[in-house]
Amino acid sequence: MAVTRTFSIIKPDATRRNLTGAVTKKLEDAGLRVVASKRIQMTKEQAEGFYAVHKERPFFNDLVSFMISGPVVVQVLEGEDAVKANRDVMGATNPADAAEGTIRKEFAESIEANSVHGSDSDENAKIEIDFFFNEDEIVG
Ligand code: TYD
Repeated sequence: MAVTRTFSIIKPDATRRNLTGAVTKKLEDAGLRVVASKRIQMTKEQAEGFYAVHKERPFFNDLVSFMISGPVVVQVLEGEDAVKANRDVMGATNPADAAEGTIRKEFAESIEANSVHGSDSDENAKIEIDFFFNEDEIVG
């Protein structure tokens, strides 16, 4: 299995509760390496652009408001089959459905305030990494 990259966001509910380190430890324990990281306040335009695929969904406006309600930590993660490794340790979108030991089971507050984002394919990982990072900000 090849070493690949994925994109992660530690969401405002987690930064608000000072869980950046705890979430990152879960990622690292899952075999992922943080090769880029920055704490940012997302703009409304950035959040709308990032989640454009969900534009027609009923939860879109609330999701955008939530994502700009506080700082987030955007990260590039590297590891063996990074997209899958990250999705596995994140757990299901709704924390009520998330497996024991996952980030969302342990930390998420609700389906909206669910602590982390992770890319769902290699193709989207590249798009999402490029949305927030220049190549020279990524140091493997
Ligand atoms: P989605 O891409 O379906 O989930 P995931 O983050 O697990 O890839 O949805 C993106 C985000 O939208 C999700 O993390 C939280 C939010 N969301 C809601 O607020 N309500 C919902 O009913 C769904 C499906 C998602």
